[in-house]
Amino acid sequence: RYPRVKPPLDILLCAPRGFCAGVVRAIDAVEKALILHGAPVYVRHEIVHNKYVVESLKRKGAVFVSELSQVPDATRPVIFSAHGVAKSVPAEAGERNLFAIDATCPLVTKVHREAEVHHKRGRHILLVGHAGHPEVIGTMGQLPPGAITLIETLDDVAKLEPPVGQPLAYVTQTTLSVDDTREIVAALQTRFPDLIAPHKEDICYATTNRQEAVKRVAPQVDALIVVGSPNSSNSQRLREVAERAGCPAARLVLRTDEIDWSVFGNIRSLGITAGASAPEVLVEEIIDAFAERYEVRVETVSTADENVFFPLPRELRGEAAPTA
Ligand code: F3S
Repeated sequence: RYPRVKPPLDILLCAPRGFCAGVVRAIDAVEKALILHGAPVYVRHEIVHNKYVVESLKRKGAVFVSELSQVPDATRPVIFSAHGVAKSVPAEAGERNLFAIDATCPLVTKVHREAEVHHKRGRHILLVGHAGHPEVIGTMGQLPPGAITLIETLDDVAKLEPPVGQPLAYVTQTTLSVDDTREIVAALQTRFPDLIAPHKEDICYATTNRQEAVKRVAPQVDALIVVGSPNSSNSQRLREVAERAGCPAARLVLRTDEIDWSVFGNIRSLGITAGASAPEVLVEEIIDAFAERYEVRVETVSTADENVFFPLPRELRGEAAPTA
C-alpha cells in the first residue's frame, strides 16, 4: 500500500508535554477510590478532558455524571473533577450526605481562595477566562452572583463598566494563552491603573511550560500535532500558539484515526505535543502511525524540567482493607 522506500521524517517531540500534576492526581484519585471502595465510583463531570482517559476509567467501574442528582447511592464515593466546582456543589453533597471527594487541582483551588480573599476585602473581581469552561463556572461559583465579572476579550475590557467605588482585582483561568492574557491584563491595567494582580501568576506552570516548548518547536517544523481533545482548553491554546509561532499546519488530534493525511502525508518535519489531559500512550500511537508511512527520526526538544507532585485528596491516602 505504501512505497517500499519510506520518505524521511524528523519528529520533534515537545517537552514538557502531556499530563500535568493536577491531572495525574485526579486520575489517581478515581483509581484509588476504586481500589479502596470498589465499583461504582461516581465522577461529576469528565475527570479530565480526554475521552480515552474517561473510557478507560469507565471500564474500571467509574460512572460519569453531570450533576450530583444523578448519584443514586449516598454510600458510594463521588469525585469532583480537576477543573473545580462552584460552592453550591459541595454544599449539595453535604445536604444529601454524599461521600464526596474533591479532586480539584490545587492550582485551581489557589485561584478560588484568591477570589474569596479579594471579595472579603471588598474588591470587585475580574476573571480572565472562557465562558462556559467548567473551571470558569467553578471559579465564578465561589462567590455570590455579581461579585465576579468575566473578561474574555480585549473588547470586553473596552466595554467594561465595573461597580463604582469598589477596588478592582483580577484572577485568571489556569489554562489560558500566556500571550493573549498578557495583552488583556495590559489593557486592563491601562484602563484601571490600581488594578490588583495575583501575587503569583494564575496560569499554571504546566500551561506555561507546554506553550513555551511549542513556541520553540513550531517555527522549525512543516506541521504540528497537538494530541488532545477539542474540549480541552490548554490543548486548544497549544494549537493556537503553534500557528502564531509560524507553523503552517497545526492540528488537534485525539487518536490516530483523526490524522488528516492530506495535511500530514507529505511533510519533512513534524512537531508533536500533548495537552495536559492527554496520556503519553496516545503520543506513542501517533508516532507509530507516522512510522508506518515515514522513516522517522525522533528528537526531544526540552525547554523546562518539571517535578511538581500533588498528594491525593486526604480521604484517599489510606491503604485498601486486606481482602479475606
Ligand atoms: Fe492543574 Fe494546571 Fe493541570 S491548573 S490540572 S496543573 S493544567
